[in-house]
Amino acid sequence: MSLSNFFAKHTKGALSIYNSINRLLLSRKKLIFIGLLCTVVGSALSLFMPILMKFTVDTVLVKGNWRILLFTLAGLVVLPVAAAILTSIMSRIRVQIGGEVTDALRESLFQKITQLPPYVLHQYKPGDLVGRITRSCGEIGEVYIQNELLPAFQTALVCIGTIGIMFALSWKLALISFTLLIPFILFISHVLGKKVERSMTRFFSILSKADGYFVERIANMKTVQLFTQEKKEKEAVKSWMTTYRESRRQTSYLRIWFLDILGSFEQSFGTGLVFAFGAWQVLRGDPSMTIGSLIAFTVYVPILYSSIHTLQQAYVGHQKAKPAMKLIEEVLFVWEKEEESSNSPIKASTIREMSFEAVCFHHKDGSGKLDDVSFCIQTGETVAIVGPTGAGKSTIFDLILGFLEPHAGRIRLNGAHLNVYELASVRERVTLIEQAPIMWDDTIRNNLIYSNENVTEEDIRKALNIAQMHDFIDTLPEGMETVIGERGVRLSGGERQRLAVARAILRDPDIVLMDEPTSALDSTTEEALMRKLFKWKGNRTFLIIAHRLSTIREADRILVLEDGRIVETGTHEELLEKEGLYTKLYYTQMSKGRVTKALTKSAIE
Ligand SMILES: Nc1ncnc2c1ncn2[C@@H]1O[C@H](COP(=O)(O)OP(=O)(O)OP(=O)(O)O)[C@@H](O)[C@H]1O
Ligand SMILES: [Mg+2]
Repeated sequence: MSLSNFFAKHTKGALSIYNSINRLLLSRKKLIFIGLLCTVVGSALSLFMPILMKFTVDTVLVKGNWRILLFTLAGLVVLPVAAAILTSIMSRIRVQIGGEVTDALRESLFQKITQLPPYVLHQYKPGDLVGRITRSCGEIGEVYIQNELLPAFQTALVCIGTIGIMFALSWKLALISFTLLIPFILFISHVLGKKVERSMTRFFSILSKADGYFVERIANMKTVQLFTQEKKEKEAVKSWMTTYRESRRQTSYLRIWFLDILGSFEQSFGTGLVFAFGAWQVLRGDPSMTIGSLIAFTVYVPILYSSIHTLQQAYVGHQKAKPAMKLIEEVLFVWEKEEESSNSPIKASTIREMSFEAVCFHHKDGSGKLDDVSFCIQTGETVAIVGPTGAGKSTIFDLILGFLEPHAGRIRLNGAHLNVYELASVRERVTLIEQAPIMWDDTIRNNLIYSNENVTEEDIRKALNIAQMHDFIDTLPEGMETVIGERGVRLSGGERQRLAVARAILRDPDIVLMDEPTSALDSTTEEALMRKLFKWKGNRTFLIIAHRLSTIREADRILVLEDGRIVETGTHEELLEKEGLYTKLYYTQMSKGRVTKALTKSAIE
């Protein structure tokens, strides 16, 4: 199993991101074990160097045993090279595992984002989420795990080895080294750790906001330029940069002061004192301390101190990575789908009937209320939904597609609750044509087949023909291979709408939800498109939202929505006879020349 799959599988239900990372590292235990084994041997070889030096001084130089000198010299050259090769294996493994952790985090974060319903996703700005995927995941895998946590394992082994040898050489000097060191380490690690965590939390929070701000402004620069706010935006960027720099400066200063300056003071002071005490023992003629032992000791003490320094850095690195972990955790555990049915979800089969039973809904802030909405649609029907702006028409579509969930009442497909179905299978059978559809910065062909890759050239040609797009595509020098820019910026609103109609046709759904699908088209193109669309319709179900009432006069039924309630239902003629809201909307449009029927003054209140 790949590391990413492993992570994705274990993220769900894990108590925290730590559990997931721990399990993930455990899944690579063999690799880490090999790395550590190489490190143990490599470290043992490096740690043997001072012993070899002691031997060279005490046995070869002092006692004049010149024959062995050649061997010891060869050892002094070969051992460090062998040690470097062995430790480089662990370095390679570190890079691999760090990269794998980053990839796995990024993948599961993105996967989670793909599962979030729009109302949850809207809590975050796109730039902020991109920052979490790129920077925060990198901070954990490629900075913390690769450069701090795994080296800490390595260093811990060196530390244990060094301590063992130091005690074997001289327990008195070893003890002095520790008593000097421990209070310092505890103090620095504690103070620095807390300060770094606070400062990094602030740093990441600024970055998250700045990412969101930049992406929003860059994506909508036209609005900035329209209202000539370039100067104001420049000032805003400056202010972000100042706060960002200040926060970064604080974190680096903390590291420089506590780790680098105090750390090197601790190291040189400690080494000096240990050397002084050792030298005093040698001068006193203490048999337990030879000149060779003293030289070896003065090499081991800095090794020990710098190992402990690395462990300290790993601890601080952990505090530094904590805010990044929180940012990732926040998204990974922001929302879990409520399992309403104990059975596993079933795949939706051909939809013959769809019904709303006393459905109620409102957004978190209480807006967008739907109140007791009930209707039933049989396959093959064309039902229109009309009503004033903000009445809740698009909300009904989002509920059908499972982007929103009702607070009360039921939505049924073929008699079964929508919740029992696998959402993806419902979306395969029900599709939506939005008023302002989104297109990707890709070719027209790729945008079209985004809805269904298993279509032939003939299918694409037919769909374009229905959508009244074929002539337009023919005029493009690169035809279907024309790239249309981010969000389809190189297309007009009407072209984008027609492309969206073709894309929906290629999806071949049972139910087509159309949210003002032709609002940007001129009447002639609209009429031709609707005529062809109805010809293609066959036994499919159409649900059409339209402000332009001429579009929906032929509907089998019209639902009139006002303030989230269905206030009238009937055919066009039946509703006109009722002389209610529909009649009012209809004749208001007629008076503006949108429809050609003669104005009946009496019908207008
Ligand atoms: N994510 C949201 N959070 C809070 N309120 C929302 C959200 N989306 C929509 N609303 C509110 O819900 C109400 C109904 O919105 P909806 O989009 O369903 O209206 P509509 O009938 O489709 O209007 P229009 O004809 O203008 O498209 C509106 O008042 C809108 O402000
Ligand atoms: Mg709408």
